[in-house]
Amino acid sequence: MTDDRSFLFLLGSARHGGNTEALARAAAAHLPAGTAQEWLHLADLPLSPFTDRRHTDGVYPQPEGNEQRLLSATLAATDLVVASPLYWYSVSAPTKLYLDYWSAWLRVPGADFRARMGGKTMWAVSALSSSDTSTADPLVGTLRLSARYLGMNWGGVLLGNGSRPGDVDSDADAQAAAKTFFN
Ligand SMILES: Cc1cc2nc3c(=O)[nH]c(=O)nc-3n(C[C@H](O)[C@H](O)[C@H](O)COP(=O)(O)O)c2cc1C
Repeated sequence: MTDDRSFLFLLGSARHGGNTEALARAAAAHLPAGTAQEWLHLADLPLSPFTDRRHTDGVYPQPEGNEQRLLSATLAATDLVVASPLYWYSVSAPTKLYLDYWSAWLRVPGADFRARMGGKTMWAVSALSSSDTSTADPLVGTLRLSARYLGMNWGGVLLGNGSRPGDVDSDADAQAAAKTFFN
């Protein structure tokens, strides 16, 4: 891994300091020294409800505010780490809304979103309270297929078990996997 990579961590939990964030930070601790990292908590950058203008205006205006912040950070990264807890077997609502905005960004004149997303790598990190990791399959599928839709590479998924904040620290398998996740 070269150190010209730039990781964007998108935190999708509806609370700060939860298990998903802790697991993502455990993995990030093993990135090569000096690797650029940006951490954004989606709850701190709320987006308006998404509107589908594909078959009316056909285009979307230049993003502003939080939307612009998220678009810029997304485009600047070589590696996008979607760190969403498992909510109802899938990604959290803020994470899903962020993904919905990809549909807008594909139609922002001049953004060149599809071409600029192609070749980036998406990684997924998630915490769930169930011990049955197959229940996270819908979350993994949502992210992996969305990445594929934009021509991104799939880095893989890191899952951890927990309910209360801090629980994932006791998931020995997850902590071991975190050490080599980004290798
Ligand atoms: C709205 C909501 C839905 C949840 N759905 C699931 C689920 O489908 N499967 C599961 O195993 N745990 C589920 N959980 C438990 C969380 O995944 C678990 O508490 C996780 O640690 C939360 O992540 P966080 O600590 O990063 O906030 C849910 C929790 C909430 C609040």
